[in-house]
Formats: sequence, C-alpha cells, structure tokens
Amino acid sequence: MSSPKLAQIPADIAAVADYSAYARERLGEQAWAYLAGGAADELTLQDNRQAFDRLRLRSRVLQDLQGGHTRLRLFGDDFAHPIFVAPVAYQQLAHPDGELACVLGAGAMGAGMLVSTQASVELEAIAAQAQAPLWFQLYIQADRDFTVALIRRAEAAGYRALVVTVDAPVSGIRNREQRAGFVLPPGIEAVNLRGMRPQPSGAPPGDSLLLGGPLLAAAPTWRDLAWLREQTRLPILLKGVLGAADAEQALAAGVDGLIVSNHGGRTLDSLPATIDALPEVAAVVQGRIPLLLDGGVRRGTDVLKALALGANAVLVGRPCVFALATAGALGVAHVLQILRAELEVAMALTGCRDLASIGPQLIFTRSHH
Ligand code: FNR
Ligand code: LAC
Repeated sequence: MSSPKLAQIPADIAAVADYSAYARERLGEQAWAYLAGGAADELTLQDNRQAFDRLRLRSRVLQDLQGGHTRLRLFGDDFAHPIFVAPVAYQQLAHPDGELACVLGAGAMGAGMLVSTQASVELEAIAAQAQAPLWFQLYIQADRDFTVALIRRAEAAGYRALVVTVDAPVSGIRNREQRAGFVLPPGIEAVNLRGMRPQPSGAPPGDSLLLGGPLLAAAPTWRDLAWLREQTRLPILLKGVLGAADAEQALAAGVDGLIVSNHGGRTLDSLPATIDALPEVAAVVQGRIPLLLDGGVRRGTDVLKALALGANAVLVGRPCVFALATAGALGVAHVLQILRAELEVAMALTGCRDLASIGPQLIFTRSHH
C-alpha cells in the first residue's frame, strides 16, 4: 500500500533531497523505477550529482549587498529567480492531478515551468492554471503535420517559448524500468499526442537492430530545425546539447537559447555530468543567447555553481516530481522555495548581490590569486 499524500510538509524535510525517501514510500515499484532511474548503469545519473559535489566556492566578506535580488529576464519575461521546473513526462504517475498540481506549485513560487510533449494533462488545461510563464517542450514527431498542430496549440495557449529536446531520438537503455516491468498504468497517457499517426516502427532491413531502420529515418536532423524555425515566431531553445560542436551548429542555425542537459542521465550512459560539460558550451555561446542547465541540481549552491560557470538559469526535474508525489502542489512550491532560499544564502556568503555578479571567480581553484 502506498502512503497517502500529505496535506502539509513533514517537519523533518529540511533539504530538497529529503523528498526522495518520502516519494519512494508513496510510489509503486514501477513508477519509482521510471521516475528515479537513469540509463544502464546510471553512471551519468550519479555523476550529475558527484560533479556538483566536487566543486568548492570562494567566499567574499564585507561586501555591500544592499538592494540585492535574484531577478532575471529571459525572452522578454521577468522571473523572480533562475530556478525552473524541468519538463517531466506523465506527472500523473506521481500525483492524481499531475501537471495541474505541479504548475500550481511552480506558480506559487513564481517559477517558470517547462511542459513536456508527453504530459499526462492537456497543455491548455496546464496553461489555464499558470501564474508564471510556461515553455512548451517539443519532441519533433515523425508526423510533421501533427507537430505543427501541436505548436499552434502551444502558441494559442500562451506558451512563451519552444524547447526542442534533441538528445533522445531513441530511448536510452532503461534497465531499472525493465527489471521493475514498468508500463504506463491504464488512464495515464500522453494526451497531447492523441490522434497522431503512429511512430514508424519495425525492424530495419538487413541484420541491424536499430540503425538503418524506420525509427531513425524519421528522427529529426538539423534540416528539421531550419524547417521548425519557419513554423513559429516563438523563441526556440535546444535541450540536450553538451559540447562545442553542437553548440556552434545551434548558434549557426539561429536558435534562441540552449539547455545543457544529459536528460537527467536517462539517455546515453557515460555522458559527462552537465556541470562538467557547461564550461565548453559557455565558451562557445559567449553570452550571445541564454544558456540553461539541468541535471542533479539539488542545492542552492548547485544553482550558484551553474551560474558561476556560465548558465543563466537552471531546471530541476526529479525533486519536483518527488515533492509532487509527497505533498502535491505544496511540495513543489516547497522544493522551489528551499532552492531559492539556499541560493540567496550562497549569494550573500560569496558577496553576490545579483545574478550578474556571479561569475567564474566564485569557483575555488588553488591557483587563483
Ligand atoms: C525527464 N526528462 C524529460 N525531458 C524532456 O525534454 N521531455 C520529457 O518528457 C522528459 N521526461 C522525463 C521524465 C522523467 C521521469 C525524468 C526524471 C526526466 C528530463 C528532464 O527534463 C531533465 O532533463 C532532468 O530530469 C534533469 O535532471 P534532474 O533534475 O532530474 O536530475
Ligand atoms: C523520458 C522521456 C519521456 O525521459 O523524455 O522518460
């Protein structure tokens, strides 16, 4: 039996990571495997965390912090802080109200939220509950006409940007899900994809299992990005870029923003931790377009480290879903509130009165003088 949702925050939850144990008690084995798991041996999943933990910060004392704040502006919208809710599919696995509860929690904290193509609730219903800007996470579908119709719906519902996830043309090797026998329970589905022509499937000709087959033939390429650019006036961000070559190509293609992400360690196991990959991408971007990061952000100091190494903002995935499973909208708001409070403390103790003051000088290195 899973434990009931809590109407208030348990007193012993002090940090974002504390939600994990509460969520595990409340989720079935299968949902836990899907939400918490990563690809294969989960090397990248673990490294996302460990790489943050390896970094040390440089303090500054006696700085004038008057008039400090955490505000930022992205794509014409003002945000109270740089902490966003990452796109996570099928949130009804965590809570009966799914994305509707999540967007309430995000709104309470003035946090932007990215809504997955594979949300379990209609994108219009989520938008109707929003108190802060929403971005639509787009998986370009094999059915390109359906993809355009989906973009039109997102535009009409008031979504402020399109986030094209490019790191998952095929699903990763999901051993934890396999072992738990994960399947979507009846009643939970990607409702926004209803009516779409089915994905091409079937074995490739010859003896390969994936390569040369219909699934990859329908997968988007840089040409489709140029096509997408023609379809919408919304800002387009690419999510899932980890290196200089792709960042350069994305800039040349005219994208409006980049998200350094390894999909929370769920696609290719052995990709680098996102905080380790960030400097290479930031060096290409040179502040020309907004740069975000996700993967393993669990502390305000993680947010500070990401901003110090070149990100403008971060996304948080699993902690929001674990909080959703524990205490619904209230839990989501609490996770965001904890991260924001920790970020402000970290800024004060490193002498940063606003996000613009945060830079690479905050990362401690022995050679620094
Ligand atoms: C995801 N992620 C994801 N990303 C995306 O672009 N579209 C999606 O539908 C999903 N779905 C999804 C489901 C689940 C259960 C998880 C855990 C993640 C990836 C997500 O947006 C983000 O990149 C990572 O979750 C960030 O890492 P953390 O914060 O979970 O460590
Ligand atoms: C996942 C897909 C939905 O990570 O992006 O499960």
